[in-house]
Amino acid sequence: MIIKAAKLLIIPLLILSLLPTLTPARAQDTSFSLRELAEQNDLYVGAAAWTHHLNNASHHEILAREFNMFTPEHEAKFCMLSTARGEYDFTQFDQLVEFAEENDMVIHGHTLIWHSCSPDWVESGDFSRDEAIEILREHITTVVGRYKGRIAYWDVVNEAFDGARLRDTAWLRFIGEDYIEMAFQFAHEADPDAILLYNDFGAEGMNAKSDAVYAMAQDFLERDIPLHGIGMQAHFDVGAINFGSVADNMARLGELGLEVQFTEVDIKYLGEADDELFRRQAQDYYHLMETCLDADNCTAFVIWGVSDKFSWLRTVSFFDNPTVKPLLFDEDYQPKPAYYALADLLARRAGVESPLTDDEIAAILAGPEAAAADVGAPTKTDPAQLAPDPVPGLIYYAPFDVPITLDGDLGDWENVPRVTVDSGTTVPDGNDTSFEFALAADGTHLYYMANVTDSNLVYGLYEPGEWYREDSIEFYLNTTGDLGASSYGSGIVQIGIMAANIAQPDAPLVGGNSSADAQLEFVAVETDTGYVIEAAVPLTTGVWEIVPEHLGVLGFQTHLNGTSGTDRDTKLIWSAADTQDQSWNNPSLFGQLIFWDKAQ
Ligand code: XIL
Repeated sequence: MIIKAAKLLIIPLLILSLLPTLTPARAQDTSFSLRELAEQNDLYVGAAAWTHHLNNASHHEILAREFNMFTPEHEAKFCMLSTARGEYDFTQFDQLVEFAEENDMVIHGHTLIWHSCSPDWVESGDFSRDEAIEILREHITTVVGRYKGRIAYWDVVNEAFDGARLRDTAWLRFIGEDYIEMAFQFAHEADPDAILLYNDFGAEGMNAKSDAVYAMAQDFLERDIPLHGIGMQAHFDVGAINFGSVADNMARLGELGLEVQFTEVDIKYLGEADDELFRRQAQDYYHLMETCLDADNCTAFVIWGVSDKFSWLRTVSFFDNPTVKPLLFDEDYQPKPAYYALADLLARRAGVESPLTDDEIAAILAGPEAAAADVGAPTKTDPAQLAPDPVPGLIYYAPFDVPITLDGDLGDWENVPRVTVDSGTTVPDGNDTSFEFALAADGTHLYYMANVTDSNLVYGLYEPGEWYREDSIEFYLNTTGDLGASSYGSGIVQIGIMAANIAQPDAPLVGGNSSADAQLEFVAVETDTGYVIEAAVPLTTGVWEIVPEHLGVLGFQTHLNGTSGTDRDTKLIWSAADTQDQSWNNPSLFGQLIFWDKAQ
């Protein structure tokens, strides 16, 4: 049976690791396709391409076979269409539209207005507001009108935000903030049936930028501006996607009645790829698709290319990696584990035969071993110890009642369990930096101690806003009881304490997500081997009430940032779940602090 061929491919790759790539010509197998499986889930699965890609037979064939949505990758943008006002060349765009129509693909028009691809004659022009509005209207009417009824979705405005503020673009300067709503109105007038999206990057999850996009959307809907959905570009890094946060953002947009789509998915990584990397990439594609399938309002999953060979990321200057492999098909157009993971998920959701066995998909989705380990019952190796042995990267047992004085003298920490952290995401060759930490509580405070070994203290280079770029210690608390929380909210804090505090005890240098909520007190002192931080947070503040009860649980994480030059070159991390330095963004990656009554 043809479908089983997939299993034969994946087993050697993932389990035996005998083959460097997927060898058999799986691309010839027509027993299933992403598009057919997506259709059974009422979903569009798409890809972007340039016309020159269509000349490649494999590229052409895979696009047509696997995808039911098509996005012009670049040739539909204003700078590609028009070299002078009123002059348009639609040759390439027409070719792409015809290709998509011949293959029954729904067309996702990308994009009418984007600062990065405005024609020179617009960028260098000196237009009055009224002239610029006329130019905006002419462009949108010309393009949307030409393909009226043929292009179902339009990314009307792309990347208008720079963080939480409107980006400084020619249109903003000529017209003002209302250029965005005008663009939507002109597009709607030109094709009242087209579904109109606002598209951006970095606004997929809950953050200041997505808050700003949300506020704009809410305002547009209240004023009947024809906005129908939000495009989430989804240019992500392996291991760094906060799926829960993306789901939350999709849900709130859904409550406004808006559609959402992943419009430009690719999942890249730093460094060289190996089988383990492809497995984790597949896992991320799978969970991203799952996030879309689980959201009622998610209608499309569009990938920013087909073969790694032609990924835009190989050519962009900001990402210096000419061999990056962020897509579903390798350089020889063979499907990667990510392809099978998506197909398998879509098949299982549709209730049809899945291309992978249960074991194969489980192997792709397996988490870091430590996180899955059975931690067993708490034990004390040393009976004098005030709490059980810590479980590496997972659990720290914090004894109470243990009063601590913040004085840099670690005498009062005697018999409190200590953990040494010497690994993380950035560890230089010959690293000699590590830290030992401990926590304890009394009737009023939770105490944290870090004893850092670092032969080369470097501080005073950065302002507190960039505290994590030089020698510093961080600890994180989630006091909400919801250890799965994947975004920061009230009761979840990241506290960064700079080594620079050694030199200025009267002007605290502290940073981190919501760190002010912690009402931190601390001391930082230099030692013969590095430095010590002793810190305390009140058990009761305006945002939390921590009650140290035997076996009570908090989310907890701790990091060290080190520099030996002019920027951070060391990142040590305690929690085993945080393999990509993402705790600042995603509290579900913390480990656990479990309180232990020392009288037990
Ligand atoms: C990129 C294309 O992929 C490249 O081929 C082109 O040279 C530049 O534009 N965000 C977007 C896309 O919205 O339009 C960009 O596409 C990638 C980033």
